[in-house]
Amino acid sequence: MSLSTQYLGLTLKNPMIASASPLNSKVDNLRHLEDAGAAAIVLPSLFQEQIEAETENQISRVEAFANSSPEALSYFPAAANGPYGMYPERYLDLVRRGKESVDIPIIASLNGSSRAGWVEHAKLMEQAGASALELNMYQVSTNLLETGRDIEAHYRDIVQAVCGSVGLPVSVKLTPYLSAIGNFATTLVGHGAKGLVLFNRLMEPDIDLLLMKMTDTLEFSDAAELRLPLLWTAILAGRIKASLAISTGVRTVDDVVKALLAGADAVMTTSALLRDGIGYMSTLTKGLHQWMEVREIASLKDVRGMMSWQRSRDRSVYTRANYLRILEHYSASPEDKFPWPRLD
Ligand SMILES: Cc1cc2nc3c(=O)[nH]c(=O)nc-3n(C[C@H](O)[C@H](O)[C@H](O)COP(=O)(O)O)c2cc1C
Repeated sequence: MSLSTQYLGLTLKNPMIASASPLNSKVDNLRHLEDAGAAAIVLPSLFQEQIEAETENQISRVEAFANSSPEALSYFPAAANGPYGMYPERYLDLVRRGKESVDIPIIASLNGSSRAGWVEHAKLMEQAGASALELNMYQVSTNLLETGRDIEAHYRDIVQAVCGSVGLPVSVKLTPYLSAIGNFATTLVGHGAKGLVLFNRLMEPDIDLLLMKMTDTLEFSDAAELRLPLLWTAILAGRIKASLAISTGVRTVDDVVKALLAGADAVMTTSALLRDGIGYMSTLTKGLHQWMEVREIASLKDVRGMMSWQRSRDRSVYTRANYLRILEHYSASPEDKFPWPRLD
């Protein structure tokens, strides 16, 4: 039986990828993930803010050197560490050491919103030995005059600039908050993206009613969040010339199978590994193997995309008609659903 798949032009032994998280910032963990069956690993992102902090730090050092004694240099702190303490040099070191330590592809990740630093650091990541690059363009547009078209053009330009400057395959971790996901996905592929990760999971603030302030606590994903990536993977599978990976809400073997049926080439998981530990990756890979074995399915190819839009006989399930059906089913027997007395 073959679990092998192609992702971004790379041959993976199975579709399971450990998506970006602090778990993947330690070389020992990369080895454990490989042992547990991960077919590729996305490193935690290098953030634009960390690149900018280091650039500012370097400028300050040069100015200090020009204006004062060499001893003054020692008074300058290292660049701000940001998440995971990953300022650029340390990040490149992780790419190099990761590459030396495991045989599976290491995918580097760049995360930001403005254009600065992407191309230069993409090249450095390539030189350090990354097998591919994932771009995560996270922006919350609070400018009420900025249009969706402006933001998409900005993302498109970044993708084009990065793809044009490196030989590595580049994937884009997309936000789900777009009016026309299919059209934008096609545009990015036309500008050089070799793959799309559906989706980036945004981390919105909450409100703490006791302290009366906005909070920034992290919640892991839950099972219901898989539905949006499933829907869009199913709609895009077989219709764009790019690999598709699902990220968000993949927790169980059944979720992995659903992702493949929708048409994913690769399946990513983070929250499940953070909750249950690195060893959980082997539960997923072995579970997938077993799922196929009992059904006597010889190859992932026989599973992938079976439930995609392209191969579906009833395409209404992917559209507004499904929304109406779900609501109809729910309202068919309201007595069972409401725990409080009806008012009519
Ligand atoms: C603690 C934590 C750190 C993360 N760090 C990154 C990151 O550095 N870059 C990135 O692109 N995604 C990051 N993510 C998002 C994950 O890679 C993933 O896309 C998201 O958690 C949804 O997948 P899941 O439902 O399997 O958790 C992070 C997620 C968590 C929970």
